[in-house]
Amino acid sequence: MTRSNTQDVLDRIDREKDRYLDELEAYLRIPSVSTDPEHDEDVERCSRFLAERMEEAGLAVRRIDAGGHPLVYGEWMEAGAAAPTVLFYGHYDVQPVDPLEEWRHPPFTPTREGNDLVARGATDDKGQSYAHVKAVEAILAERGRLPVNVRFLVEGEEESGGEAIEAYVRTRGAAEIPSDCVVISDSSMYAPGQPSLVYGLRGMAYMEIRVQGPDRDLHSGTYGGAVINPLNALCEIVARLKDPATGRVLIPGFYDRVLEPEAWEREEIAGLPFDEDAYRQDLAVPALGGEAGYSTLERVSVRPTCDVNGIFGGYQGRGAKTVLPAWGGAKISMRLVPDQEPEQIAALFTEHVRAVAPAGVTVEVRHLHGGAPVLVQAEGPFMEAAIGALEETWGKAPVRVREGGSIPVVSTFAEVLGAPVLLMGYGLPDDRLHSPNEKISISQFHDGIRCTARFLDRLGQVRK
Ligand code: BES
Ligand code: MN
Ligand code: MN
Repeated sequence: MTRSNTQDVLDRIDREKDRYLDELEAYLRIPSVSTDPEHDEDVERCSRFLAERMEEAGLAVRRIDAGGHPLVYGEWMEAGAAAPTVLFYGHYDVQPVDPLEEWRHPPFTPTREGNDLVARGATDDKGQSYAHVKAVEAILAERGRLPVNVRFLVEGEEESGGEAIEAYVRTRGAAEIPSDCVVISDSSMYAPGQPSLVYGLRGMAYMEIRVQGPDRDLHSGTYGGAVINPLNALCEIVARLKDPATGRVLIPGFYDRVLEPEAWEREEIAGLPFDEDAYRQDLAVPALGGEAGYSTLERVSVRPTCDVNGIFGGYQGRGAKTVLPAWGGAKISMRLVPDQEPEQIAALFTEHVRAVAPAGVTVEVRHLHGGAPVLVQAEGPFMEAAIGALEETWGKAPVRVREGGSIPVVSTFAEVLGAPVLLMGYGLPDDRLHSPNEKISISQFHDGIRCTARFLDRLGQVRK
């Protein structure tokens, strides 16, 4: 293995690591929950915080209003035209915190527990993407210049649909931020000590159903039996989304465009170390379940799904209230794989729901947001630089995997910029992203900074 000549910068990173962590904590104190309008000001404040840190790092920074929450853009473009340009993408918004009572500490009071820093957004994605900022800062502080040109584009609504960045990249991306590769740290390593390069992400079609019955809640004795109960109707609809025997989605046409995993992919997945029983026990479920004919790892990466995320309506208070509710609703997400198209799947879903809804209720279906699934190019000099940096940092060559999560803008980057997208995550599988007590491993944060610095130095050897 060749080594990058990054020791000067690595020494600085080691010396300054406590400050980096303090800064990350300050970043994590800002409750930038993008999906909740109550937090609009916090999201705005968070964008300013990040812009200031990026400026201190030595980048020329501006915030871009593309509708929605601001994009934070920064660049250092003085490496010359022969040097490649790398675009770092991340997001400064975070998921909501509920259920709040399950957190060991307040979610926006970052708390150190041994090697873990616990807070909402710690790994997804403040900690991971802040590692990019600190790596660039360390190189500039040490040498006064970077080995390559860099751009940062950090969005504030990845967790709630990402419309702004989608619009920006589509309309202005090719002209304003042309880049030779895109680097994203918003995923996990395969296991502690085992880095991974993600070459596929699932897409998403997120739906909301509202089933309307009578114009008011009714006495369930005087009316029950004569009126279609919208919550019963909703449950019937939901029950007809998936075949309980095979785990297959029952929406006609749903699988039409699904690419079967290739033989080498199934082989590689089967070759990954995976303890199914430990996985099950960690989740505290009596059994795992999913689509027949596919392994657990295949089900969460190369196969599409349909899941209820929330269901609501009717009496939710203490004790018993006899009521026939006026309405009920559900939020349902479908994870998509290449070549499914979110818009088309949303239309098929809507048609199916209407077709199976019982008479006597009115059903409203909305497509809240979507994102295309993606497979990224897995070869070339940029990929080699990433592999080298990961291997040098963790002492092991990365495995290539497809991830079950979604990062909607990735397919847009690939399409509009025509550049390879490197998904090199610094998280760990037990980071609990989106769950209570989300954390980042402090050593992963530190090594992520080191890895990014090595990556940039390796990229500096690449000529366009
Ligand atoms: N970082 C995640 C996506 C992810 C998770 C990638 C795990 C790889 C491994 C991202 O912040 C996320 O949560 N995305 C949402 C997107 C959705 C709101 C469109 C998701 O996957 O639910
Ligand atoms: Mn994320
Ligand atoms: Mn997320």
